[in-house]
Amino acid sequence: MRFGTIGAGTIAQAVAHHLVTAGHEVTLSNSRGPDTILDVVTRLGPLARAATAEEAATADMVFLTVPWPRVGDALAGLSSWDGRVLVDTTNSGFAPPAVEDLGVETSSEFVAARAPGARVVKAFNTLYAQYVAADPRHAEGRQLLFYAGDDDRAKADFHAVFDDIGFAPVDAGSLRDGGRLMQVGSVLSALHAVKLD
Ligand SMILES: NC(=O)c1ccc[n+]([C@@H]2O[C@H](COP(=O)([O-])OP(=O)(O)OC[C@H]3O[C@@H](n4cnc5c(N)ncnc54)[C@H](OP(=O)(O)O)[C@@H]3O)[C@@H](O)[C@H]2O)c1
Repeated sequence: MRFGTIGAGTIAQAVAHHLVTAGHEVTLSNSRGPDTILDVVTRLGPLARAATAEEAATADMVFLTVPWPRVGDALAGLSSWDGRVLVDTTNSGFAPPAVEDLGVETSSEFVAARAPGARVVKAFNTLYAQYVAADPRHAEGRQLLFYAGDDDRAKADFHAVFDDIGFAPVDAGSLRDGGRLMQVGSVLSALHAVKLD
């Protein structure tokens, strides 16, 4: 499976580090062009490379890792998703558009509506960056990794990849119901817990 990131900052680098350590190829991108992240991919090693967002988005599983106010323009330039998996790591926080302006829609449904054809999985947003980056196999147990989505096969693929990396993935439900539990300020947000093996 090929992996890509839209955004190449803290969360993209943490996720990419886990993926390349597990032997996967990852293509990272940002809005300023591949030349601006050559140092990042060099640090990640030979399985990482820099490309345009359009190219990174052709991967089988793509991580959306941009600040919430940039979600609209980050997705606007990307064409047909054709069933590829888009993992939404963003947190809507307090930046516009505010969550309350979304009505009943959760922030990942807002993302999904802007990525037609993508099978969206919400994940990683509940964890502080240092827990995304750390080795998920802690002395006390494996880091819980909540995820939500409406497509069972996309969720199974996500689960398998990050279970193999050492997280303890937990299906929180649909984008609407699980996504709501995972949003900033909800019960699963910033819940750093481990599963005893
Ligand atoms: N940091 C945390 O603790 C944490 C934890 C969980 C979830 N999150 C969420 O994860 C997301 C990323 O956070 P982060 O801490 O990784 O942010 P970050 O370090 O600021 O990185 C954001 C990345 O997005 C890129 N970007 C901005 N606009 C873009 C666009 N239109 N197209 C492509 N790339 C674009 C930025 O590069 P350019 O500006 O150069 O394009 C940068 O590489 C946010 O939504 C955040 O709320 C953060």
